[in-house]
Amino acid sequence: MSVTSRTQVGIVGAGPAGLLLSHLLALAGVDSVVVENRTRAYCEARQRAGLLEAGTVELLRSVALGKRLDAEGLEHDGIYLQFLGERHHLDFRSLTGGRWVTVYAQTEIVKDLIAARLAAGGMIEFSCGDVAVSDVTSDRPVLSYTDSSGVAHEVTCDAIAGCDGFHGVCRPLIPDLSVYERSYPYAWLGILASAAPATGELIYSRHADGFALYSMRSPEVSRLYLQVAPDEPLDQWPDDRIWAELQKRFAVDGWSVSEGPITDKSVTAMRSFVATPMRHGRLFLAGDAAHIVPPTGAKGLNLALSDVVLLANALRALLKDGSPALADAYSDACLQRVWRSTHFSWWMTSMLHVAPDADSFESQLQLSQLRYVTSSRAAAQSLAENYTGYNPARFDL
Ligand code: FAD
Ligand code: PHB
Repeated sequence: MSVTSRTQVGIVGAGPAGLLLSHLLALAGVDSVVVENRTRAYCEARQRAGLLEAGTVELLRSVALGKRLDAEGLEHDGIYLQFLGERHHLDFRSLTGGRWVTVYAQTEIVKDLIAARLAAGGMIEFSCGDVAVSDVTSDRPVLSYTDSSGVAHEVTCDAIAGCDGFHGVCRPLIPDLSVYERSYPYAWLGILASAAPATGELIYSRHADGFALYSMRSPEVSRLYLQVAPDEPLDQWPDDRIWAELQKRFAVDGWSVSEGPITDKSVTAMRSFVATPMRHGRLFLAGDAAHIVPPTGAKGLNLALSDVVLLANALRALLKDGSPALADAYSDACLQRVWRSTHFSWWMTSMLHVAPDADSFESQLQLSQLRYVTSSRAAAQSLAENYTGYNPARFDL
């Protein structure tokens, strides 16, 4: 026997996409339930993105999620690109007429969203099992799950949002899916370290031995990445080897990476993936459930939140005003931005990483492109516009 209930939107996944959707729908007067298979502690601790586009920051501020972001987020005016042992600054504010990026970890956004939903009486079910979705081509789709105390539930909904990430259960429910995919012959080894960052802004470094990225989480915590082989075993990377490799790949005269205790270490594969369409009947996909980009362009989280803005607008129009136009346009509207970000992330990745089979021809092309981006204002503007995000999706408050 299942406990039956009713809501307007059943949301699968309490990552940034599912949680923000639930928050925006509540502001629009639409009820939802979020169902997540992990624990709350796991969702709040999962180390992932760190960089928000200006438009994402403005969105979060406009829906009362800016308090801690404004107090603790680190606004950056630009980034550094490093190659052949020289570091070049790109000033986004001057290149884009005032746009910037903000370092604020995904873990913190997830904590803020969970706190805001629970304070507003929102329903998030963590640690669920048997999560399944059915009847998506009817106008009463059903979300079923077993809650953390073992009770089975069936929730009748008006629409389902598949915000369940790349390995979720929703995408396979879309028949005749077209998939566009590229995997890369490298991965990122990422660390968190208790060490004050030695740089005020991110450094993207192309080195003959591989890419490295210097990022941060706070004035006391550094986040760094190294290009490694896709199947690289973590036990081949004791802390001393990681620091030595980082020092080498970021080396410039009179400067060094600040070292400190490493508190987290993981390897992430690199992939581009786009599935279309993002809607089937009353099932809508958002975020990593529909698309993945390699992290070099810092786009994944920003794209996920951008989908959610379009989805919240579409569901409000559908469920409150009975107007299907935005829901019908949803997939195409998302995919325009998705493909732009897919191209940008692929381009940044290809310019900065050293493929295992790369020859000197490819190396010269990469270096030529890096020289162009750091010497031509038009080329730098294009990178800056894509990186900081342009034409952000707007939530109809
Ligand atoms: P997810 O965060 O994957 O959330 C999906 C949720 O669904 C999870 O909580 C999962 O547990 C849950 N779930 C899965 N299956 C089920 C099920 N069957 N039932 C119920 N729940 C389920 N992006 C940026 O914009 N900037 C960056 O700087 C950046 N850096 C990154 C660095 C790294 C190392 C990595 C790995 C990613 C980075 N990204 C970055 C990408 C970003 O983290 C993702 O795009 C983002 O997490 C997508 O959010 P989401 O809510 O769509 O999916
Ligand atoms: C991060 O801080 O985790 C980060 C920043 C920029 C990227 C990728 C990851 O391009």
